[in-house]
Amino acid sequence: MTLPDRSALSRRAYVRALVAVGGGAALSACLDVTRDGDDTDPVPSGTDDPDSLPARQHAWNEFSSRDEDGNVQLPAHHALVPVSLASGAGDADADTEAGAAAESDSATAPSEDARRTTETALRTLERAYEWSPEGLVFTLGYTPAYFDRFEGSLPDSVDLPAPEALTAREDPAFDEFDALLHLASDRPDVVLAAEEGLFGDRDELNGTDLETDLTGVFDRHDDRRRTGFVGAGLPASKTDVPGVPESVPEDAPFLMGFRSGFARTQASEDRVTIDAGPFAGGTTQHVSSMDIQLDVWFGQDNHHQRVSKLFSPTHAADELVGEVGDELADTSGVTDDGIASAEAAAREHGVVGHAQKAAQAREDGNPPLLRRDFSTVDGDRPGQHFLALQRGIGEFVRVREAMTGADLDVSSANNGILHYLFVNRRGNYLLPPRSLRALPPAAPNS
Ligand code: HEM
Repeated sequence: MTLPDRSALSRRAYVRALVAVGGGAALSACLDVTRDGDDTDPVPSGTDDPDSLPARQHAWNEFSSRDEDGNVQLPAHHALVPVSLASGAGDADADTEAGAAAESDSATAPSEDARRTTETALRTLERAYEWSPEGLVFTLGYTPAYFDRFEGSLPDSVDLPAPEALTAREDPAFDEFDALLHLASDRPDVVLAAEEGLFGDRDELNGTDLETDLTGVFDRHDDRRRTGFVGAGLPASKTDVPGVPESVPEDAPFLMGFRSGFARTQASEDRVTIDAGPFAGGTTQHVSSMDIQLDVWFGQDNHHQRVSKLFSPTHAADELVGEVGDELADTSGVTDDGIASAEAAAREHGVVGHAQKAAQAREDGNPPLLRRDFSTVDGDRPGQHFLALQRGIGEFVRVREAMTGADLDVSSANNGILHYLFVNRRGNYLLPPRSLRALPPAAPNS
């Protein structure tokens, strides 16, 4: 892997580029820069008592800080690490000679050894780092393809279909590897070190000895690895990347220039948690990775048009948003009237807002999705890894249909933000409860 050129980049841009590259050399370079910079506080250690940690892998909110309006602050740096079961991690009883020689145990159930190793490695992360964005939070999710190897099928209480194209204008590739590890921290060096510890040749993490790692259990798909960032100032530090214009506002937390993920327009962790069956306490995750036509968004549209398309024409006319969403407190400001007036907005203003459309999928006034998406410049182009948690994937599909707004009589350029997004990949995952996070069978009770 070639490391980015330090002399050509600001410190923030350099660190972001190192996270995107990944690996041991990137980690050393990142540690050098963070030592010289302002990230010199020690990283808080984790716990030796696994029972003190939450039963849900997706329990991040109560461990996260909130802004002055009470909105949860997502960790600043993210890595999505795709993996498949390694050959040799399969169950010996089910393992044939042919299976042992195969590149991946795609047809073989995982062995108890592989399960134990996975759980031990994940517990080591929890001992090394406090379960919080100042330390590390993570999830391990499994695709429908992973569960295909088992004789039993997933219980009815888990809604996890294979991913599919969700709009007429997309032709995405699908995440068909076995699992996805989501590592997230405010510290870029922690994200890199955690991945290196799990898959590289480190013998300690944050002062904690590594008993084992995942190299014999999972193979990484380096070509599918994804990274990103969220937080005021981070997008504006990426203007070294082609397609990221200088006009990205300095304080914007996302590349498209506005705050998102307000407390009252997010589902609670309870709302997205599977509440019955052996995977109760888990959730489902959808990840779509998309390019954003950011130069057109900032070059052709003015602030008024961007607010109309992202929020609603009323938000723009009444100046409800501020430069980057600073006028909004803990809600997007989309009201019941705003939701009901989507059609009228199309007719009268020729523009419909993204938030206004997506809110049509609320249930009894409550949003069904907990969005933990983040911006990216993977592949040196602007994009978004849209990561959402919901009780079942059907709920995501329903919200995505509302976002499409197929019935609205409006040109594609003015139909929310659809015109600017190009979906490249989609993946669906089950995030089991923590007790079943290590290579779960499809039917745990049977
Ligand atoms: C680059 C891509 C995207 C950007 C920049 C973006 C931005 C926003 C913003 C600014 C809001 C209003 C503030 C808030 O409620 O947090 C919002 C709301 C929302 N967005 Fe997006 N969004 C993007 C993609 C998507 C996608 C792909 C979906 C999937 C269906 C989605 C679903 C939602 C939902 C469910 C809401 C809240 C609706 C409600 O209030 O009930 N967004 N988004």
